[in-house]
Amino acid sequence: MEYSTKAIHGQVDDTGKGAVTYPVYLSSTFLQEGVQQFGDFVYSRSANPTRTALEQQVADLEGARYALATATGMAATAIAFELLQSGDGILISDTVYGGTWQFVNELFESRNLSYELVADFNQYDFSQVASHIKAVFLETPTNPLLQVTDLEKVIGRAKAQGLLVIVDNTFMTSYLQRPLDFGADIVVYSATKYYAGHSDILAGLVVTNREDLYPQLKLAHKLLGAILSPFDAFLLSRGIKTLPLRLEKHQENAQLVAEYLDQQEGVEVFYTGLSHHPGHAIQEQQASGHGGVVSFVLDEETYDLEVFVQSLTLFGFAVSLGGVESLICRPATMTHESYSTDLQERIGIRQNLLRLAVGIEAGQDLIEDLAHAFDKARK
Ligand SMILES: Cc1ncc(COP(=O)(O)O)c(C=O)c1O
Repeated sequence: MEYSTKAIHGQVDDTGKGAVTYPVYLSSTFLQEGVQQFGDFVYSRSANPTRTALEQQVADLEGARYALATATGMAATAIAFELLQSGDGILISDTVYGGTWQFVNELFESRNLSYELVADFNQYDFSQVASHIKAVFLETPTNPLLQVTDLEKVIGRAKAQGLLVIVDNTFMTSYLQRPLDFGADIVVYSATKYYAGHSDILAGLVVTNREDLYPQLKLAHKLLGAILSPFDAFLLSRGIKTLPLRLEKHQENAQLVAEYLDQQEGVEVFYTGLSHHPGHAIQEQQASGHGGVVSFVLDEETYDLEVFVQSLTLFGFAVSLGGVESLICRPATMTHESYSTDLQERIGIRQNLLRLAVGIEAGQDLIEDLAHAFDKARK
């Protein structure tokens, strides 16, 4: 069955009433048959029918055995990090999401965990890895510079050294890229973004095929209380039904916008859909699309960044991405403000870098909005 069909038919109302959408079970606790007879649902922190139905829908789409729906994307990452033990270290890309960076930078030390920043996993020599390093955490394409990691090569090398591989697949979703198929152990998501798709909930997902790891992940999910509420599970499930349609339009618009930006003088564009992007060929091989995020640097001699941002009417100035509406943000002071200025400079997060989350509006309207802002911002 095709992905778009599964996305819609993945949930079945099991109440016998024939509802075509899965019911929202707003119940914290469930009646049990007897002293020794417990049903599948006991208390909603452990399992709730609406959340379980969503988790099955997600696992099906991911080609995964297990999925857990979490309160936020950061909760999903935190649950994956619960697999680490005191003394362990991880390798992590130097351009991960700012919150993930802040987690390892500010919370690892007190847990006696450590990390090593990796500039480019494609070039990393895994044979030299120190013995305390137990896991790899990566995003591809990265946020916000859209650097591409070769999943097959890097996961293969990391696994050969016995490392656990965790991939944050938020920018792609399983519709465009499935890291589990390349051997990743765990995939995490901010489902707040494309999966949910409407900028109205925070949510996360953890998926895995590893039967040995799932019980530990499930335990952390329950005991940290990092669970998705039934109503948000319903909204996420509803969003997933239109994920393929939305993503197709997001990336059609993103390609249009990237090509338009590429023609402007004094603009440097980052989008894997452009043939001159260094990760273009690998992205085409390992994913079925390029997603909806486009980043670009405005030459400060040519344009006034503040005027540019203020002149836009369709691109709202806000963090986040993956909703139907277009947004623009400035990573240096927003999503990646937790990075030191030195680190920002080293990894290419310049002050005049802007990130577009291209929405699903009419593409031409977005181009006109950008053209108007370029006219206004030109010095
Ligand atoms: C790639 C990526 N991972 C994780 C997160 C964290 O997700 P959440 O905000 O849902 O906790 C974000 C949020 O922007 C993100 O962009």
